[in-house]
Amino acid sequence: MKTPVHIAVSGAAGQISYSLLFRLVAGDLFGPEQPIILHLLEVSQAMHVLDGVVMELQDCASPLLYRIETTDDPRTAFKNADYVFLVGARPRGPGMERKDLLEVNAEIFSVQGKALNEVASRKVKVLVTGNPANTNALIALKNAPELGPENFSSMSRLDHNRAVSLLAEKCGVLTTDVKNMTVWGNHSTTQYPDLHHAKVKGQDALSLVERDWFVDEFISTVQQRGATVIKARGLSSAASAANAAIDQMRTWALDTPEGDWVSMGVLSDGSYAIERDLMYSFPVTVINGEVSIVKGLDISEFSMQRMKLSEAELKDERDAIRHLL
Ligand code: NAI
Repeated sequence: MKTPVHIAVSGAAGQISYSLLFRLVAGDLFGPEQPIILHLLEVSQAMHVLDGVVMELQDCASPLLYRIETTDDPRTAFKNADYVFLVGARPRGPGMERKDLLEVNAEIFSVQGKALNEVASRKVKVLVTGNPANTNALIALKNAPELGPENFSSMSRLDHNRAVSLLAEKCGVLTTDVKNMTVWGNHSTTQYPDLHHAKVKGQDALSLVERDWFVDEFISTVQQRGATVIKARGLSSAASAANAAIDQMRTWALDTPEGDWVSMGVLSDGSYAIERDLMYSFPVTVINGEVSIVKGLDISEFSMQRMKLSEAELKDERDAIRHLL
């Protein structure tokens, strides 16, 4: 039997985890040969709900599930963790300003960053999903000085998948026919889904769709998709978010396919004139587990304006919680 990998999930009693955890025990991350040990983190008030989730995980009788540990202590949860899904976050409460939301989450992610720094595997891959995901990831990273930027990413895969799916539908092709999709920036409505480099069956996407559709429909549909799902379902995207978390972690661990890239929130190195030290979604390739920002793409003025808008929002978020960096 292969050695089990340690997978930690925070917010384990929440709605994304209610999909994510069952996908993990079904082998959807690393396949049917890879046993897993789950480390589930929740706040103490939610531990009784988590007990129910654990019972259901046990009731799946998965041969891959080696052990489950539950805790409300990040240092216990992240001990020896190889893969960490930081899903748990505080939602906006009544009367809460955006700044308060940033602040309360910043505190959570600074504590978790410190715990990761102390006890996680030195090769840990930490994927931040809890919102505001990019800035939460930046805080966690900055509080883990013995780990490096290569250990952290924020989730833009849901936005990426939404963009791929919408383009595939428009062109009447399968999602696998779409390559080189890019979503730039923040996981928010300032994100910029960009078709300038995307290919459909090897052809330039922008030669196959009307420019007006790209500018007036595609961009805003992807940007607003989260809100549209909430409006329809009364709850935020959960199964698709869990799916995206699995997709992003799998790509990060097992590489991008030859000739393609994915969008991932990573620490900016100044590429494309995006300020360093922001967690920003770039097109990336992953080779032997190493993430590299795709360099040298031509960026039109139209694109640069939108990329800068999202950069400005991320700078504001960072400035609001600078004392915790
Ligand atoms: P949820 O509210 O159903 O679950 C969140 C869970 O996190 C709750 O059980 C809560 O008790 C727990 N939690 C809160 N603080 C915690 C802490 N300090 N330590 C451990 N657990 C903690 O929310 P849901 O729907 O599962 O979403 C989770 C997060 O993911 C939200 O912030 C949401 O906005 C974000 N999200 C991000 C997406 C992305 O594409 N990046 C897409 C969809 C959601």
